[in-house]
Amino acid sequence: MPAQGGELQVRDRIVVVGAGVVGTTAAWVAARDHAAAEVVLVDPSPGSGASSVAGGMLAPVTEAWPGERELLELGAASLARWPGFAAAVEEASGRRVGLRTDGTLAVVVDSADREDLDRIVTHLRDWGRDAERLTGREARRREPALGPAVRAGLAVPDDLAVDNRLLLAALREAARRAGVVERPASAVRVHDAGGAVTGVELDDGSVLESSRVVVAAGAWSATLHPALDGLVRPVKGEILRLRARAGSLPPPRHTVRAAVSGRAVYAVPRDDDRLVLGATQYEVGFDEDVTVAGVRDLLGDAERVLPGIGDYALEECSASFRPGTADNLPVLGAVPGAPEGLLACFGHGRNGILLTALTADAVATLLAGRGLPDDAAAGSAARLTALEVLS
Ligand code: GLY
Repeated sequence: MPAQGGELQVRDRIVVVGAGVVGTTAAWVAARDHAAAEVVLVDPSPGSGASSVAGGMLAPVTEAWPGERELLELGAASLARWPGFAAAVEEASGRRVGLRTDGTLAVVVDSADREDLDRIVTHLRDWGRDAERLTGREARRREPALGPAVRAGLAVPDDLAVDNRLLLAALREAARRAGVVERPASAVRVHDAGGAVTGVELDDGSVLESSRVVVAAGAWSATLHPALDGLVRPVKGEILRLRARAGSLPPPRHTVRAAVSGRAVYAVPRDDDRLVLGATQYEVGFDEDVTVAGVRDLLGDAERVLPGIGDYALEECSASFRPGTADNLPVLGAVPGAPEGLLACFGHGRNGILLTALTADAVATLLAGRGLPDDAAAGSAARLTALEVLS
């Protein structure tokens, strides 16, 4: 019998809300592993959110700060999966994802920032992670695009980087080939009855009936069910996309992270002479304006480290919203107090692209009813008791 909005009821339907890298990966994995189910991916504008406004660095070591050991371990577990994940996406889609293996150089330009670098090295060694300390001259020898202002650095050769937009396109194609149906609408709310999920209400008034809903709507996830309220907030970031012009100095080969007068900036090269600069960080709700000060700081800080970029074309300035959580860890699986069948898959914060490979495995085991992989346990939604949410 037709359900509300004319939808046919499908007994085994999995609805994934949100078509960024995490949601599209979840939908692809769901369709791949559950061929009998209809997998519907709901998003008014697939691939247009935070996943497209990203550098694509796969750099858990330089993204981790003292006190974020669990995040470092999650990131390291995901980085180890990335070569296999990238190969699987490329195979399933027939498209490249632009994986780069040149590693990261973290550099500083003044003495206060050098002390920060020292502190990071000490913490990393305490955690048993390796990092090679470099003088400014050594850093420039490895990366000729670095300018004379660079005074010290840190090499992290095992880091990777991926072209986030190629990745989005490849994931979308892999999902399509696996049978995922895209539904270009906004999800308004996850419905439940008797303690279990019954479907997803869309902004066109229809309800997609389903007993399994993966919420992967990034910073918007908290609005979809009262049990998710307060679990995730928007953390705005701005990025710039540059292109080297004929006669310009070439972009760096490595991902370059820099601290400049206490501000963080990163530059992630692409295979086509383009460079992504990021990223500012603001707690301003869903304000999507790109600010003059944000662009000024990113360009000024990046140019101190990579002086050749002054001659590049500035192709794009964009802003979006990282899905931030109280402890900077993602929220994966069944949330305490949420209806049965609602699987959280959000809150990846600064590490959405990095953690996608681990999240792919997490979605596979969660949908199979086996819980999270051991090395994803720090992201378990079960840690979120009502008390922690309120405090
Ligand atoms: N991981 C990069 C960023 O959040 O800006």
